[in-house]
This record gives sequence, structure tokens and C-alpha cells, in this order.
Amino acid sequence: MLKRRDDVIGFRLNGREVSVDCPPITRLADVLRDELGLTGTKVGCNAGDCGACTVLLDGAQVCACLVPLGQAKDRAVVTVEGLGRNGKLSALQKAFHRHGAAQCGICTPGMLMAASDLLSRIPKPSKEEAEDALGGVLCRCTGYAKIIDAVLDVGSDDKPNDGKAVGARLKRVDGAAKLNGAEVFGADQAPADSLWLKAIRSPHARACFELTGLKDFQERHGLALVMTHEHVPHNGFGIYPTIKDQPVLAKNEVRYRGEAILALVGSKAALDSVAEHALPIRWRTLDRVSFSDAQGGGAHALHADHPDNVLVSGKVMKGDAEMAIAEGAHNAEVDVETAFVEHAYIEPEAGYARRVGDRIEIVACTQTPVMDRDEIASIMGIAREQVRIIPTATGGGFGGKLDLSLQPLIAVAAWILNKPVRCTYTRTESMASTTKRHPSRIKARMATDAKGKLTACDFFGDFNTGAYASWGPTVANRVPVHATGPYAVPNVRALTRALYTNDPPSGAFRGFGVPQAAIAHEALMDMLADQLAMDRLEFRHLNAIRAGDATATGQVLEASAGLALCLEALRPHWKAAMARRVAQGMFRQGVGVACMWYGIGNTSLSNPSAMRIGLKPSGRVMLYNGAADIGQGSNTVMIQIAAEALGIAPDHFDYVMGDTDLTPDAGKTSASRQTFVSGRAAQAAARALRSEILKRCNAGEDATITLGAGKLCAADKGGDHVIDLSRFEEDERGDVISGFGTFDPPTTMLDDNGQGVPYSTYGFAAQLAEVSVDVKLGLVKVLRMVAAHDVGKAINPTLVEGQIHGGIAQGLGMALMEEYVPGRTENLHDYLIPTFGDVPEIETILIEDAEPLGPFGAKGIGEPALIPTAPAILSAIECATGVRITRVPATPDRVLAALKAGGVTP
Ligand code: FES
Ligand code: FES
Repeated sequence: MLKRRDDVIGFRLNGREVSVDCPPITRLADVLRDELGLTGTKVGCNAGDCGACTVLLDGAQVCACLVPLGQAKDRAVVTVEGLGRNGKLSALQKAFHRHGAAQCGICTPGMLMAASDLLSRIPKPSKEEAEDALGGVLCRCTGYAKIIDAVLDVGSDDKPNDGKAVGARLKRVDGAAKLNGAEVFGADQAPADSLWLKAIRSPHARACFELTGLKDFQERHGLALVMTHEHVPHNGFGIYPTIKDQPVLAKNEVRYRGEAILALVGSKAALDSVAEHALPIRWRTLDRVSFSDAQGGGAHALHADHPDNVLVSGKVMKGDAEMAIAEGAHNAEVDVETAFVEHAYIEPEAGYARRVGDRIEIVACTQTPVMDRDEIASIMGIAREQVRIIPTATGGGFGGKLDLSLQPLIAVAAWILNKPVRCTYTRTESMASTTKRHPSRIKARMATDAKGKLTACDFFGDFNTGAYASWGPTVANRVPVHATGPYAVPNVRALTRALYTNDPPSGAFRGFGVPQAAIAHEALMDMLADQLAMDRLEFRHLNAIRAGDATATGQVLEASAGLALCLEALRPHWKAAMARRVAQGMFRQGVGVACMWYGIGNTSLSNPSAMRIGLKPSGRVMLYNGAADIGQGSNTVMIQIAAEALGIAPDHFDYVMGDTDLTPDAGKTSASRQTFVSGRAAQAAARALRSEILKRCNAGEDATITLGAGKLCAADKGGDHVIDLSRFEEDERGDVISGFGTFDPPTTMLDDNGQGVPYSTYGFAAQLAEVSVDVKLGLVKVLRMVAAHDVGKAINPTLVEGQIHGGIAQGLGMALMEEYVPGRTENLHDYLIPTFGDVPEIETILIEDAEPLGPFGAKGIGEPALIPTAPAILSAIECATGVRITRVPATPDRVLAALKAGGVTP
């Protein structure tokens, strides 16, 4: 087709003139990324909701996904690639780097551009001005605190690193790329000859379907392939080796809205030509099985091998909870209900696959490269050695990128067609089709003796696992262990069920059910404290589990149980906040406290990690790191640990992350395990390397190692032992000396009563929330959070603080606003996540009760950061109004209804 001259549009991009030959209606974001190759501008929603695509147009921030190319004609556009000069970061980017303001980094370009707009107008903005200017950009990782810190600190000098590794506020080793637009996420690259894949999904929660005339359809639309379940060699996958209940493409029946039934593969134009009404599908809708239906029993069975829709049950029994409750001097009970929560990472799933001989390579965002590799091999019926996973940067995961999403679709298509196939989920598709936090319905009781010591906990929780198993068994088994909260309780009955329904699959989401359980046990702790007329914080301190105490599973904690220390650190803040309570008028103010514990790593399962470190002839050190960094910072933390153990500064290190051909299996990035488990493996690998180096240098144990270009010096009492690295033979990785280390935390299986050692260590925390409640409108505003976390040892305090900030923001969302409803909240406009204006000032207090098993004493922080937040906020609402909300999110309508029922009026 002849192009019209109008289609050539010129504008000034990052200071140079460009012209593109595209229709004026083309989204500027697409032009920048697809036509001009500037993928620093990210696309999180394509609808103006997330701000990830923010660029400057004539100096003012705009969403590039909403700006048609025609509007940019003859104007100046600046993207993140235009911020630095000569490959150096700008002062703003440096401030972000210094403050650890980029975690996963997917929102970072948008944040930087919005901040650039602000700083060009107001060079020294106030906090409020910064929050206002950046308010259109969403971040799901950081809780915004360090972003604001960075914007208010532009121009300050970087503090030089004092050479320390463990405990240092080292800047992220991958930070610069996140700040200058060079970081490659799932949607940012693919071979030029890639075909595109688009999944066709069910609009019904439960239905049968027929596919007709597929061959004609394929030819009519010029598609390369129309893929059905028949193209998938083993059409079932799942997290557990014995539960492969989820089809890659549904066969005859769909079990949830959003389930894929077809995959169309072809050029982008061919896919765009397919109208929804032209799809060759005949539907017959069927009655959906709801959570209530599944709870009641007798509903249609989603899976024939689970006639009662109970996927799995969990149990922990100790002593006689029933009798202890009956005999308790004080007892309380509560019913809690929680909703689906969407991960809402800003990066929708994306990647590509290509066939290389008899192997398949998948380059995509993921939390778990090795599990992906093994699962793809199983689906395709090939050996796992034939699969290579190369993770891209991952723009947030939080558990949602532990499950396969597009990987099997693109892999099977690329294998069949012998051509690269790429796919990027739309925002709606991502939200409709991927896993969520389990909705739960919990009934719980607790009792104390006359002095306030807990005597019993009786807990029953149903969890809506949706249409497929995913991580349902993990949730059902983890929750009973944690049901008491972090307290010493002699009599426990904790029972759970994961129930199949015609809802989206529930999976892993920061806490595996523990955040839901914490709402119940913390409500009971408040109620019992009130009955005893005890201070709520002191009641928790009295009952805090300590080293030497036995858990509900009979495990005696040997060390590193710092809850009491956390509560002691909160005490002065608690007293001050109590003095600020306002019990009258339209705006009531209250304070709440909540505690948590969290078993680090898999529950009662082997949980190994392995790391390798090699010394190159050049004198650089290479960390072969299989742990996927999804923004939490494991790329940096592993190097800090390895550097400390090796006795060499971190800046001598390079790394490769997650490539299954190049790195040993470090396990998945979940269960807050990477710092503890993989960190220990990295420490062991570094020690092995050090030992080998010292042996080859004939140097003593306490020698100081220094690396120079092509040589190494080990200095001890006997003097300098210098070796020329080029005289050693290189191994297959090009290393001349290497070290390998593994770690598998010691646990035991739980017996029939749930007794045993499910985790080798636990994280502990106590958080305090201050809220204001508008009793006329039911609006809750969180004013302040103070979070005390026992992390064993903060390997990098900046990263730990960032995890706490981000966890609190997600916990706040769970408490007050987030509720995923299939078909209704499938975008970031209707599904609300916390923005700058929602997240309050957060004070973090790091408690370091060293874990002897951990690397330099460290434990995990990812999930602990979120768990106490929602219960602390709900406690504060009750403190302010006298009304306890037990159904979350506590949206204004629910708060108002509760206030009305409680007789609270302005
Ligand atoms: S991608 Fe443009 S606002 Fe989300
Ligand atoms: S750092 Fe903001 S979304 Fe990940």
C-alpha cells in the first residue's frame, strides 16, 4: 500500500530530530518502543491508569500510551533514555540510586519523568508537591517512601562505600540499568522475525464449548497457527508433582472466566484482524460453583478426583483446645472474611520462545526459572535438558509469577512452527487469567488463664483456591502452623481446607494465607487484652513466643525469636500514639498494634539452593546466581554475602542471574527464602573459593586477598603471595578457580497431627498503625506506621527498609481497598491499589536477633513485611471507633455499615 506523506511525522526526541512513518493515531508509547527502539518507556496498562509510560512532551509529563503520535508532531519528547549525559546518570537518577528508590524498576522510568517535570518547575519541592507531581504513577514495590526521599534529595553527594559488604547500604548492582532505561523486561525484546501469540479466553466462569472450522478460520485470517489443546503434548500443569490439574488450553469445558481455550499465532496485523465475533467458538454456559457452594458441599465437582471440591485439608493439633477454651478464664471468638487480592505488578507477563535445534529457549519474566524449565519439559514431553529458561528482569511478582502463564503457549507454538513466538499479556488478560490471593472465611477462638497467659487457640479456615490447585496445598498447610500467631499457646486445633470453585485460581501471594490468618488471631488478641483490661501491646509482649518455647507443631525455638524485642522497640511509639487518640467528633483517631511470625522457606519440604562463584583470568569474580531477582534485591544481597565470605570488595563481582544453562538451581524466589537459603549457599560457595585460593597461594586462613588485573595477592604473616591468574587452565565457564556451595535448611515432615519442624527459622515483627476515621463517610486514612522487624541481620538495610515499605503498602491495600471481582475489576482503574496519597509516613526499626543458620545471621523479610499491616490497621479502626471490621477490604461502605450497626454517629 502506498504510504501517504502525512504518515511521516517528525518530532524532537531526547534532543535529536526523528521522523517515523506511522499513522498519526498510533500511540506514542508504541512508536517509542516499537519504531524507535526506546524500550525504557514501559507499558503497564495502555489505558492511562499506571503512569509507567510517562514521558515529557514539551517539558510536561504525559502518558505516552494515551498520546497519539500526531500530537507529538514538531514537539519535544523526552524519555528516560534522555535524562543522563554521556552514559552517566543525572542528579535525579543518582538520587534514586542512592536511596534505593527503584526495586523491580518497571515504574522507575515513569517516576523519573514525572519527577523531571516537577523539578524543572520547582527545583526544591516540598514533600506534598512531590507526592502531587508523581501521583499519577503507580508503584507496587516500594511503598513510595524512598522515591519521595530521592526526589527531595536531588543534588546531594553519594556517600562513598567504606568497603564493607554485609551490613552496608550498597547501591543495587543492577540499579543503573533500572534508572537509565537499559534494563530489559519481558516485553522489551524478541527476535525481529518473531510471530505474535494471542490467547483467546473464556468470558464465562463455567461453560462447555465447541470449536468449529478452525482450518478455514486460520486461512481466512492468514494465521500461522491456531493452537488448541490437541497441540499440547501433555495438557496439564501445576505446582505439585502429583497435581497437574490445569490445562494449558482448556478441552471442552472452562472452569473460570479468563481461562485460555485457543492461541492464535501470526503477524501482529493478522492477529489484529480477528474480530471477537468471528471466533469459531460455540458456548454453553453452566452454573458456577461459588465459594459458598463449595463450603456447603454437594455442589458440582470441578474435578472428578475431588468429588467434594476439597483440594486439600491442613491440620495442626496439640493438647486439647476444646477443653482449654471451655475452661479459659477469658475467651474470645471472631469470624473473618477476606477477598481476592490481585498482585497488580506493573509489568504484565511477557516474553518470547524460540526453538534452537532440539531445544526450546524461553526468555520471559519469572520468579522461578528451574521450576519453569521442568514444567515446560513435562508439558512438551521433552527432557528438561532440552529446555533453557533465560529470565528477563521481572517487573514485580509477589508470588504471581511463580506459576506458569504464557510460557507453555509460546513454547509449544515456537516448537511447532520452528519460529520465535512472542506474547505480552494485556492488563486485563493478566488480571483475569493469573493467580490471586486466596479469599478466606475463618472462624477462630482463643482463651487465656486469669493472669492473661494464652491457653488455647481453635482455628478453622476455608480458602477459595479457585478452579485449579496452584499453591492451594501450600496455603492449606502453612496456615495451621501459623494460626496461633507468634505466641506461646499450649493447646491448639487449627484446621484448614482449600476448596475448588469456578473462580480464578488462587496461588501464592506474599504470605501464602498467613496474612488472612493474622487478621483473625490479632483481632482475638485485642479482644482478650480488653477483657483482661490489659494494654494491647503489653498483652502481646506477655504472650510473645521466645527462644526455648514450643510452637503449635511442638518445635522448640532454639534462637532468633525476636518478637519481644520488636514490641519493646515499639513501646515508646505506642505510648505516644495512645496519647494522640481522639474518641469524639467526626474524625476519630486511633492506634492499633499487630504481630506476626513467618516460617522462612518451604513447609516441611526439602528446600535446597546452590551457588557457584568463579574467578576469571582477568581478576574479576563471577557469581553464578540462580535466584531470580524480582525487585527485592537478591542480585545485590548475594554479592554482599559472597564478598564478605570471600574477603573481597563487592565491586570486584559480576553476576549472571537465573539462566538455567549457566546457573545452579537456587530454587524459587518465594517464601522469603532467598536471603536465608540462597544466601547461605552463596556464603558456602565463597568460602570454598577462598579456601581454594588460599591453598593455591600457600597462604594462611587469615590472609587478606586483593585482586588486580590478571593477578591475585594473598597477604599473610609470611608476606605477599602473588599468583598470575593467566597461568591457570580455564574450565568450561572460563573460570580459573571456582567454589560451589549448597544449603538445605533442616526441617522434618509433620505427622498426622501436624507435629514436627516445618521451618528451620522464623521471621518476627510487630507493627503499629495510627489511623483517622471519618465516621460520617466511613473513610479511613492511615496516618502513620511504625514497623519493627526481626530480620536476624540486615545484609543491606536500604533493601530491607524497601521491602518493609512495600509490604506495608500492599498490606494497607488489602486492609482498605483491594478486592478483585472477576469481570468487574480487571484493570487498574477499577481495581485500586495504594497511591502516593494513600501510603503514610513509615518508620522502620530493624531488630537483629541473629539466626545461627543464616548467612551472617540473616533471615527473610519479603513476606513478613506485609503480614501485620492489615490487622494493625483494623485494630486502629476499632481503637478509634469501638467498631471492629472483620471483613476486608474495609471499604467506606463496609466501615459505614459497621459504624451504623455499632451505633457510632458523628
Ligand atoms: S501504560 Fe500508560 S498509563 Fe499505564
Ligand atoms: S519498583 Fe515500582 S513497581 Fe516495582
